[in-house]
Amino acid sequence: MRGLLHSLGALFLLLCHSQLAHSALDIQVNDADSLTNAGVAIAEPMMTFYKQNQTEGIPGKLTDTWYIAGSMFMTLIQFWQASGVDTYNSVVQHDLMFQAGENSDFFSANYSQWLGNDDQMFWGLAAITASEAGFPEVSNKPSWTSLARAVFNMQINRWDDTACHGGMRWQVWPYQAGYTMKNAISNGGLFELSARLARFTKNETYAQWAEKIWDWSATTPLLDTNVSAGLTWNIADSTSNEAGCQDAGNNQWSYNYGTYLAGAAFMYNYTNGSPTWLNRVNSLLDSTFTRFFPTSFADGTILSEVACEPILSCDRNQLCFKGYVAMWLAFTSILVPSTSDRIVPKLQGSAEAIGRQCTGSANGLDNLCGVRWHQDGWDGSLGLEVQMSALGGVTSNLMLLGRGSPQTIVENPGGAEHHIDTSGDERDPSKQRPITAGDRAGAWILTVGVAGGCWGLWGGWLRRSRFGFNVVDGIFGF
Ligand SMILES: *[C@@H]1O[C@H](CO)[C@@H](O)[C@H](O)[C@H]1NC(C)=O
Ligand SMILES: *[C@@H]1O[C@H](CO)[C@@H](O)[C@H](O)[C@H]1NC(C)=O
Ligand SMILES: *[C@@H]1O[C@H](CO)[C@@H](O)[C@H](O)[C@H]1NC(C)=O
Ligand SMILES: *[C@@H]1O[C@H](CO)[C@@H](O)[C@H](O)[C@H]1NC(C)=O
Ligand SMILES: *[C@@H]1O[C@H](CO)[C@@H](O)[C@H](O)[C@H]1NC(C)=O
Repeated sequence: MRGLLHSLGALFLLLCHSQLAHSALDIQVNDADSLTNAGVAIAEPMMTFYKQNQTEGIPGKLTDTWYIAGSMFMTLIQFWQASGVDTYNSVVQHDLMFQAGENSDFFSANYSQWLGNDDQMFWGLAAITASEAGFPEVSNKPSWTSLARAVFNMQINRWDDTACHGGMRWQVWPYQAGYTMKNAISNGGLFELSARLARFTKNETYAQWAEKIWDWSATTPLLDTNVSAGLTWNIADSTSNEAGCQDAGNNQWSYNYGTYLAGAAFMYNYTNGSPTWLNRVNSLLDSTFTRFFPTSFADGTILSEVACEPILSCDRNQLCFKGYVAMWLAFTSILVPSTSDRIVPKLQGSAEAIGRQCTGSANGLDNLCGVRWHQDGWDGSLGLEVQMSALGGVTSNLMLLGRGSPQTIVENPGGAEHHIDTSGDERDPSKQRPITAGDRAGAWILTVGVAGGCWGLWGGWLRRSRFGFNVVDGIFGF
């Protein structure tokens, strides 16, 4: 009898235990161990999705998207630096380098005909994150900084003075629909990459470009700083060349604010505390808090992607934004110490909320996170993107505990920059090569070939459009 009671007790405990595994993740925002454990619990299913969703086993290529794996590596590198958990380092090292492609510039011919500048930019951010984190280099390959520099150099070559007196177009090639517009993430993202390259390498060229991109952005609605009293700065998602970049696709996305904010924070730190950059940081911080931390969620301390989260309509790109923004807010708190008191409660409130949200179980996976951090209990969404976003939210709190400070070349001398020749990659794949007399006989074959190629491209565009990409808003990448 005693024995039976004992067994029943054990069974009860077992049940309780498995029940606990499905209840809230224990997140103590001031305790690095609890944050680390939560990060691991969230990363595990993320990596399962990563393996399942790879296209034909190509390292770092997810089906129907290319850049999201890059931003996932960025997140994992930041998590490694802040937690010391190196479980995923070898896969990140290998797959991130693999996608740098034939010419080490994140512009592999496999994908380059479809890309937006923002797609390539995210890989550049992953690379500079590796340098700042002191992530191990790959032997006999270019340094992470060199990869980030290659992205920067290719992109500034695409700086477009033919419309709106400057700016990055959204898409790279003229045959792409987004070629005729300029958008916030392509410009803000290159601004952030430039600012981070400047601070890491101490090479002034990058700082000059950061200034230039900021200044140009501020002549357009992509960075509207001319607001009347009582209003906050506004970042529109896109603007069109046709209207001289004075019109606005004014959807409000957190990452557009976050990327300009992070870049401004790096510039503030790089300039050793310039008051101009401090004012910019504080203004963007006000805008970010006002828009993306609704007062109805725990007194304005939980990050929310307000344009799509309430009705669960976020596409896979939008599902990721909060994770980036959380880590960029943590950078801001670290690099601009006077902002810390305002940022910390918002990141802590968000992490506590993540602990209550990431309780889903499905398909043999636990600790699944949904979209709405503010909702107690899993909201039923699942996938790599929502896991990554939550991992960013947890990581941002580890960073606040002093484990995620971005290094510079002084602390990480192995991360020196070197030149990578990318000149062969900037050819428009739709452009016919000039036909010489000797080529005449074969000219029709070439024409048919090019037409066929374009037809193939068009088919690709249609396929792409079916995945809910919205051409007008210009918010996504491939
Ligand atoms: C490009 O595509 C080929 C064929 O599918 C594949 O073997 C290769 O690994 C791909 N390269 C990259 C960088 O994705
Ligand atoms: C600074 O960066 C630019 C852009 O990548 C590069 O052309 C230049 O050589 C760099 N300067 C040094 C001293 O490395
Ligand atoms: C803001 O004001 C400046 C200076 O008057 C002007 O150049 C810029 O175009 C304005 N920006 C917007 C978005 O109206
Ligand atoms: C720059 O960032 C470091 C943290 O990496 C911080 O200690 C320092 O105070 C910042 N500089 C300024 C001028 O705030
Ligand atoms: C890819 O991931 C999604 C979740 O984001 C999942 O529903 C889907 O089944 C996966 N696709 C494959 C081919 O495994």
